[in-house]
Amino acid sequence: MNVRTLTKNLLGLMVIALIMAGCSQPQSNETTAAEKKDEKTVGIIGPMEVEIDLLRSKMDIEETTDLGKLTYYEGELNGQQIVLVQSGIGKVNATVAAQTLVSEFDVDALINSGVAGGIHPDLGLGDMVISTETVHHDMDETAKGFKPGQIPDMDTRFFEADQKLINQAMKGTKELPDYVDVFKGRIATGDQFVASEEKTKWIYDTFNAYVVEMEGAAVGQVAYLNDLPYVVIRSASDDAGEEAASIQENFVEEAAKNSSHVIQQILKNMEN
Ligand code: ADE
Repeated sequence: MNVRTLTKNLLGLMVIALIMAGCSQPQSNETTAAEKKDEKTVGIIGPMEVEIDLLRSKMDIEETTDLGKLTYYEGELNGQQIVLVQSGIGKVNATVAAQTLVSEFDVDALINSGVAGGIHPDLGLGDMVISTETVHHDMDETAKGFKPGQIPDMDTRFFEADQKLINQAMKGTKELPDYVDVFKGRIATGDQFVASEEKTKWIYDTFNAYVVEMEGAAVGQVAYLNDLPYVVIRSASDDAGEEAASIQENFVEEAAKNSSHVIQQILKNMEN
C-alpha cells in the first residue's frame, strides 16, 4: 500500500468515525432520558383550570396535543414523565380524559387532583384527603336491591386506590403547612356540587367518605377497567353545606395549591 492509499484509507476511517460519533450522539441523549427516574408515564387529571395551572406552569412541556375538546400536555415535572390534562368538571369529562390518557398516551398510572367538599366531621378547610377508595354516591339501583353506589354486574362497589401511590402521596404531604391536616380515606363522587347538610349527612352515613367531589370515582373506574394504579388527591375547598358555593370561592385557590404541592412531591419521590 503506497502512502497516498494509506492516507486515503486513514481519511476514510476518520470520516466513518466522525459519522458514527454523530450517530451515537442522540443515542447517548436517549440513554440520559432513559436514565431519568422513570420510563413510566403518569397521567394527571385536574377538572378546573385552577387545579392544573400550577402543575402546568412548573412542568417542562415537550408536546401539546389537542384531542377533541381537551388539551394534553406531555413533558417532565420533577424528573418524572407526565401527561397533564384539564378534563372539565364531572364524571363524563373525567372519564373521557382518563381513558384518552390510557388509550392514546399509554400512561402507566392515573392521578386525579383537585378540590372537594369536606364531609367528615374532622375535616377543616384546606385539609387533604388521599383516597383509599372511591365510590359513585349517585349510582343508585337500590330499587333493584343493589347497595347505594353499586354498579350492577361489577364485582366492586369501591374502586381501590394503589397502595404505593397512597404511600407516596402521604410522604408528599410532609412539607405542607402545619395547619393542614391529612387524612387517608374514602372519596365519594357524583355529578352534583353538594351544597346541602342533609345530602352531606346522607353521603357520610352511607359511604363513610371524607370528601365529596365530581370526578374521582370516574378516574378510579377507568383505572379499574384498565388494570392500572390510581390515586385521588383532594383538598377541602368547602364543607358541602348550604354555603358551600361562596365558601369555595374564597378557598379554591388555597386548596388547589395544596393538592398541586402533593402531586409534585409524589412525582419527586417516585422510584421506578
Ligand atoms: N368540589 C368542591 N366542593 C364540592 C362540593 N361541595 N360538591 C361536589 N364537588 C365539590
